[in-house]
Amino acid sequence: MAKLENKTILVTGAAGFIGSNLIKRLYEECENITVIGIDNMNDYYDVSLKEDRLKALDVFSSFTFIKGSIADKSIITEIFEKYQPQIVVNLAAQAGVRYSIVNPDAYIESNIIGFYNILEACRHSYDDGKLGVEHLVYASSSSVYGSNKKVPYSTEDKVDNPVSLYAATKKSDELLAHAYSKLYGIPSTGLRFFTVYGPAGRPDMAYFGFTNKLLKGEKIQIFNYGNCKRDFTYIDDIVTGVCNVMKKPPVKEVGEDGLLIPPYKIYNIGNNNPENLLDFVQILQEELIRAKVLPEDYDFEAHKELVAMQAGDVPITYADTSALECDFGFKPSTDLRTGLRKFAEWYKEYYG
Ligand SMILES: NC(=O)c1ccc[n+]([C@@H]2O[C@H](COP(=O)([O-])OP(=O)(O)OC[C@H]3O[C@@H](n4cnc5c(N)ncnc54)[C@H](O)[C@@H]3O)[C@@H](O)[C@H]2O)c1
Repeated sequence: MAKLENKTILVTGAAGFIGSNLIKRLYEECENITVIGIDNMNDYYDVSLKEDRLKALDVFSSFTFIKGSIADKSIITEIFEKYQPQIVVNLAAQAGVRYSIVNPDAYIESNIIGFYNILEACRHSYDDGKLGVEHLVYASSSSVYGSNKKVPYSTEDKVDNPVSLYAATKKSDELLAHAYSKLYGIPSTGLRFFTVYGPAGRPDMAYFGFTNKLLKGEKIQIFNYGNCKRDFTYIDDIVTGVCNVMKKPPVKEVGEDGLLIPPYKIYNIGNNNPENLLDFVQILQEELIRAKVLPEDYDFEAHKELVAMQAGDVPITYADTSALECDFGFKPSTDLRTGLRKFAEWYKEYYG
């Protein structure tokens, strides 16, 4: 992590699942860094979880938290002028595929206008000969692959057919970043995350929702009769991947035509090891019993409903992570049981 020492780093979505874990890791492993975090603390899911994640960051004396929206250009401009971050990690976004049907405005506001404000601020960070932003790392999503049939999903694949507004905004972010990298030489790396899970994760995600439902004695629905395969990526692996990427901005090179080749990269971060949904639920149940979230004699069969595939869903998705391995010598490695055990133990401790 030496390359990040003495740097000022801006992390947007600082109270979020990935953002808060990233900031913790940066402080644990890097000497003398300054982290500025921004988050609008919206109530898409339980705000107290976001507050608790932030509380855990109180111990780091050089961490500054700003409550505000990246869609507010004046706040972003002020932050860049005051702190002059060298590395920017944009994780703030309206996440979730289904919620984009309910509240599309939030996606345009945070994922499009917010990201545009970040790009503009990066662009102007070089004004008056300043060194400015050395690397912009931003979250994209596996959802950009839409209903692509070819697996594993590769960053070489065509991703021009998003099937949700969320995916369309993430793909748009990649396009905007490309244009800004080309025009203003901003070194940028987009990361397509594949289903991230772990302690203090997002309550809107399936494993968390399943746990809440089982605890209440409600039935959980397993789509495509359980014959779905997904890449589940443990939070610590994601954070390691983001840190590795942060340290290595794409190099600025000039092409044969004398023009700048955009210092622009996109990577998948996933497990490259798809798990069957039924196996996933089985392990989750076992770990919830082990952590004493559920009683020893819980009747799972009575709480499990196998249903047909949802419209737009695909039976198997997983990441081709060869580019990440090749450029960073890193591949997520936490197995599902280890990851779900940590989630179950956290759940027991947090909710009692
Ligand atoms: N967790 C996953 O499985 C996953 C998968 C693919 C992509 N991603 C992407 O990774 C990033 C982080 O995801 P996460 O799982 O930590 O989600 P999260 O919802 O826990 O974190 C995002 C944070 O951004 C904040 N935020 C939203 N809009 C904002 C705005 N306009 N200004 C400031 N803050 C704002 C939210 O309050 C939240 O705390 C997101 O961009 C998400 O789209 C996550």
